[in-house]
Amino acid sequence: MTIPMFRVAMAKDAPERAAEVLSSGSIGQGAKVEEFEVGIAAKIGNDRVATVNSATSGLHLALHLLAGADDDGRGEVLTTPLTMEATNWTILANRLRLKWVDIDPATLNVDLDDVARKITPHTRAIVVVHFAGYPVDLDRLREIVDQAEERFGIRPAVIEDCAHAWGAAYRGAPIGSHGNTCVFSFQAIKHLTAGDGGALVLPTDELHRRARRLRWFGIDRTADRLRNPPDVTEWGYKFHMTDINAAIGLANLGPADGVVARHKDNAAFFDRELAGVPGVELTERAPGHDSSFWVYPMKVDDREGFMKRMDEAGIMTGNIHARNDVHTAVREFRTILPGLDRVAPRIVGIPVGSWVTDEQRGYIAETIKAGW
Ligand SMILES: Cc1ncc(COP(=O)(O)O)c(C=O)c1O
Repeated sequence: MTIPMFRVAMAKDAPERAAEVLSSGSIGQGAKVEEFEVGIAAKIGNDRVATVNSATSGLHLALHLLAGADDDGRGEVLTTPLTMEATNWTILANRLRLKWVDIDPATLNVDLDDVARKITPHTRAIVVVHFAGYPVDLDRLREIVDQAEERFGIRPAVIEDCAHAWGAAYRGAPIGSHGNTCVFSFQAIKHLTAGDGGALVLPTDELHRRARRLRWFGIDRTADRLRNPPDVTEWGYKFHMTDINAAIGLANLGPADGVVARHKDNAAFFDRELAGVPGVELTERAPGHDSSFWVYPMKVDDREGFMKRMDEAGIMTGNIHARNDVHTAVREFRTILPGLDRVAPRIVGIPVGSWVTDEQRGYIAETIKAGW
């Protein structure tokens, strides 16, 4: 049997809790969604949570709220090419232009020096991904945005794509609590799954209020819509979460702490075992950056040979995300990205999740140490 790179972490009582909702006569957005949001807020330390039906919807809504309509056709978003396509296609869906930022080969996050170089008066937003759960240096990013504001008189919004980063922390505080708009994913194979779903975490009460409205057509759900339909002052989307997904999310919310802890423990084991192994380069581990290790990214020589050897040994490995900038659909935005060119052909993930046993992680480390 192959040791998988991804597996659903589902709490034992999730079927029962979802079934309760299914037979309750009310399965849309209701009390379970509210309860799930309170639970998320408590974990992150930020009350301004608005759940949605996916992180993709959350990113779409965040960009809609913060980057606005691109009236002059020149509005651009600085973004990473090393991510799941959802991060970037939502920028295009908001009719904004992509401006690729290079990758820091040490962290696989965006190169913040390149962010600083590429901000212009047309920069509406900066989207960063905490790749594999490793936090971006948010203090340095804030300094860069402060400087841009001084220079251009505009302040680009910062959106943190936290799809990999449930349970990660930056300088001792949970990701999601550093004053930016943050988007989490509760899709099937994330640390915390709601079956499918996501959450926006907003920095102000006003943005929170708008996000909660715009996730459901802009209609105030607390109003008496049958007798007295409320006016819609700002149109919105159908991005809300259902009580079915919220019940699954609630069942998994507590156990997700254990899931994340096991990812971290397995990662710490690999850090010890794989440091200095010829042909393997580990990604950065800096103080204050507490990764959630959704996956365990490494850089290896001869990736194809490495993956073939691991396949033979029954260990699933893989390229985590294909670089987005080489897709035909976005060829007009292509640019020179030396950091990414250098590192992309060498990135590989190995199984690190909560399902990986002590025996299996030992076997994975020994197989890698034996060479390929
Ligand atoms: C970095 C990143 N952003 C966004 C998404 C989209 O998440 P969702 O499937 O919840 O829409 C993913 C999904 O894996 C992702 O990896």
